[in-house]
Amino acid sequence: MDQRAFWLRPTSYWLPVHFPVSAWNTHAPFAAWLIDVLRPASVVELGTHMGFSCFAFAEAAARLGHPMVISALDSWQGDDHAGFYGEDVLEGVRAIAERDYPDSVRLVRGWFSESRPIFEDASVDLLHIDGRHGYEDSVEDYEEWRSVVRDGGLILFHDIAERERGFGVWRLWNQLQRVNPSFTFHHGHGLGVLAVGEVRTDALRKLFDADETTAERIRSDFERLGAEAEERSQAASLAEQLRQSRLHATQLEGELERRIQIAEALRGVIGERDRQIHDLESSTSWRVTAPLRAVGRALPHRD
Ligand SMILES: C[S@@+](CC[C@H](N)C(=O)[O-])C[C@H]1O[C@@H](n2cnc3c(N)ncnc32)[C@H](O)[C@@H]1O
Repeated sequence: MDQRAFWLRPTSYWLPVHFPVSAWNTHAPFAAWLIDVLRPASVVELGTHMGFSCFAFAEAAARLGHPMVISALDSWQGDDHAGFYGEDVLEGVRAIAERDYPDSVRLVRGWFSESRPIFEDASVDLLHIDGRHGYEDSVEDYEEWRSVVRDGGLILFHDIAERERGFGVWRLWNQLQRVNPSFTFHHGHGLGVLAVGEVRTDALRKLFDADETTAERIRSDFERLGAEAEERSQAASLAEQLRQSRLHATQLEGELERRIQIAEALRGVIGERDRQIHDLESSTSWRVTAPLRAVGRALPHRD
């Protein structure tokens, strides 16, 4: 390992264990590295959705044996960029949080602005802003929440590389990165890392002070490491599709079996009817009344 490559620590190669659908996948190795070097006690996430980034932070802290609480905030209703969704999303996040991260993940449901009074100023080490992505939305979240971050802490902004479909975080990022120590990732829809106050961690100081050549190496290394996370995510998604297809196939097999049983039961009923008709036609009274039926058929038909 290149000793000068301060960004390549064992944690840079870690991947989370949960891969819910997310546009954040490729930042998982950086998330683990960041938890390692910053060692935050308190993290706040604005926008958790299915929980990818939240569980990536929580998993890294758990593997490091580092005590950390991440408050995961969301309305769990969705928005115009993430799409709107049902209660099953929160239920899925809650099931993982309660089973795997009972002491570190705290789910806070509600609008971000309603939850702001729960947190004291300067009480948070790392703030992750990943809610709505319009320019005004991101400014509102930043203005309302930046004071929760302590001096020496960090703010992450996701989607700073997106410029289509009304995304405007890039505009806010362009303003902020000029006045604060910062680092910009372009891959994975873009991730901005912004220092709040004095940078006290050696590795982070190096990150913010990196010259353009080093910054490019950092970007390309984390993009390469993130590509594996993307592959894992795709594999997890395919495994889920396969599980659902198998479930559907089992249901169809059950339905097929039921239809076969109904068809066999009907065949039994029809056989019984055939026997009854045969018995009737071969009975004495049927044969005796045969001439009458022949006369009836010979008579002209009247309308
Ligand atoms: C892009 S998603 C978060 C993605 C997540 N960080 C991940 O790793 O996949 C944005 C989420 O923010 C939530 N959201 C947006 N604006 C909100 C607001 N003002 N208050 C509460 N939740 C909000 C949406 O419900 C949505 O689930």
